[in-house]
Amino acid sequence: MTYAVLHRLRLCHSPPLTTSTTTTPRRYSPTAVRCRCSGDNEMPLVKAIRVHDLGGPEVMRWEQVEVGEPKDGEIRVKNTAIGVNFIDIYFRQGVYSAPRPFVPGMEAVGVVTAVGPGLTGRKVGDVVAYAGKPMGSYAQEHIIPACVAVPLPPSIDHNTAAAVMLKGMTAHVLLRRVFQVQTGHSVLVHAAAGGVGSLLCQWANALGATVIGTVSNEEKAAQAAQDGCHHVIIYTKEDVVTRVKEITAGKGVNVVYDSVGKDTYKGSVECLESHGMLVSFGQSSGTPDPIPLSDLAAKSLFLTRPSLMHYTATRDELLQSAGEVFANVASGVLRIRVNHTYPLSQAARAHADLQARKTSGSIVLIPDD
Ligand SMILES: NC(=O)c1ccc[n+]([C@@H]2O[C@H](COP(=O)([O-])OP(=O)(O)OC[C@H]3O[C@@H](n4cnc5c(N)ncnc54)[C@H](OP(=O)(O)O)[C@@H]3O)[C@@H](O)[C@H]2O)c1
Repeated sequence: MTYAVLHRLRLCHSPPLTTSTTTTPRRYSPTAVRCRCSGDNEMPLVKAIRVHDLGGPEVMRWEQVEVGEPKDGEIRVKNTAIGVNFIDIYFRQGVYSAPRPFVPGMEAVGVVTAVGPGLTGRKVGDVVAYAGKPMGSYAQEHIIPACVAVPLPPSIDHNTAAAVMLKGMTAHVLLRRVFQVQTGHSVLVHAAAGGVGSLLCQWANALGATVIGTVSNEEKAAQAAQDGCHHVIIYTKEDVVTRVKEITAGKGVNVVYDSVGKDTYKGSVECLESHGMLVSFGQSSGTPDPIPLSDLAAKSLFLTRPSLMHYTATRDELLQSAGEVFANVASGVLRIRVNHTYPLSQAARAHADLQARKTSGSIVLIPDD
């Protein structure tokens, strides 16, 4: 039976209200306080991080927001662990735009506290994980369409799931669908000790590839080696293109997974072998300059700029991707590094550290009062 089928079945067998699936049980208790009157209706209020003006981490304010009631097809989730992703920085800076004020955040795990009218297959007390749109997970409670929520397998704790849901599905899509990594392939992963990078290295190694990772310092190099990098290049000390050519006996790699963007894409093209593929999936250092087609013509290269959202657009794709991630976590192929946790109210510190390259592995925010 496929994971997707298993989990459709699990939708009908959700745990009772007070049950948690973490190894350390968390009791369900509603966060929302009812104190704002709107006509005859009282609007539930929760604490959340909100961005009114674009800018640095300091624009993130900890304040009360209305959470409302779920409408048709929606659920309200009391978040227990919230994943931090580089995309949250892009929205805060205005690289990607959203109507303001907005609550950032694309990923969390939590307990369902309300379901929209007529919704079946979900009930109060279910434990779910979600990643992607709609934005707004940096909140004690958040309303989402039920179709973006995935049941959390009992073997995976909340922090781990919040650390791996978006980043793990990204790794799945990049390694299994955008470019299918196979035994014998050589793979270059930039930011190899980062949230997505750490998972890409572990998974590519398990698929039988020779994995080359780039990192900024010795500490991150040690982590990347533990995560399955056969060769680690510290780009602050060594020239990446020269080292990749040495490692591959002048041939180059089959695929480069480049999330750094502006600073790396030219070197990434040089590191590819004939017919190789540049998978440009992020821009932590800034948006790459336009790439002339002639850059690709020299070696008949392929270039793609994938987005996770496009590869998990259908319910089946989402369940398939999340299922592969959870299965690889459960089997030990993926070791999830929750290297940093912060109270939700201090999300600005998490952003500052992520932006300053001070973090490795994943960052998780824990909702506080
Ligand atoms: N396309 C998609 O669907 C998708 C989905 C998820 C994530 N992403 C992208 O994947 C990338 C990684 O995301 P993540 O959340 O896992 O972050 P991350 O990789 O943990 O953090 C970024 C890392 O990039 C490296 N870096 C190099 N130049 C940098 C610079 N100028 N500023 C900041 N960091 C720099 C740093 O590692 P070193 O210290 O080793 O240089 C840093 O730790 C992001 O670009 C994100 O947008 C894309």
